[in-house]
Amino acid sequence: MSKKIIIAIDGPAASGKSSVAKYLATRLGFTYLDTGAMYRAITYLALKHDVVNDHDAIVKLVKNIDLQLKFENGITHVFLNGEDVTPFIRTPEVNEKVSEVSKIPEVRNELVNIQRRLGDNVNLVAEGRDTTTVVFPNADLKIYLTADLHERANRRFDEYKEKGTRISFDEVKSNLKKRDKIDSQRSVSPLSKAEDAFVLDTTDLTIEEEIQKIIQKVEQIKLNKKIEV
Ligand code: DC
Repeated sequence: MSKKIIIAIDGPAASGKSSVAKYLATRLGFTYLDTGAMYRAITYLALKHDVVNDHDAIVKLVKNIDLQLKFENGITHVFLNGEDVTPFIRTPEVNEKVSEVSKIPEVRNELVNIQRRLGDNVNLVAEGRDTTTVVFPNADLKIYLTADLHERANRRFDEYKEKGTRISFDEVKSNLKKRDKIDSQRSVSPLSKAEDAFVLDTTDLTIEEEIQKIIQKVEQIKLNKKIEV
């Protein structure tokens, strides 16, 4: 049995996956794998080459990339063919196109292969839509993070407020409801809970309480695998 630990975190939009995954990886000293950043990087590249609506051209691009991730000071830096593209992957243009690009099966195949390679031989916290079901079905710990719709809408609304984005709470809530539906009904790698996932409902928990619950599970895994605690 491998002595390395893989933790995979999945869950609906605004469930707090990114914050928990980053914080957990930092606390445990594990590598953090932000799979969404990879789909964003490909989308950025497709936009840059002006081929974002051209399926074949995107597939060609993705087969010829050198994609590297570096996690430093709580930020995942994404390097595409040697260039740090981190500042360009969260723009409104990328936000608008990323779900289309991430639907392309060849893109998913390539990225899943890269994600598995990145998970070889390191202690890992992997976060993203299909990490518990498709990328790491044998993960040591699978976490399905969730919170009720109202609470998720509250959290997203606060994020928007902080960024100065003008949007009403009702709009945020109805957008999330729509996104839940699309995410769980899409044909390629839909959002779904792995059967053996630990479901963590974060509605009434602080991030510290969430981390403590997960760390308890990790300590148990270390004991079972006979890894020095
Ligand atoms: O988590 P995020 O918002 O950075 O993800 C960006 C997009 O990529 C989002 O539309 C879902 C998609 N994605 C995916 O299809 N599979 C993953 N493993 C991660 C993200």
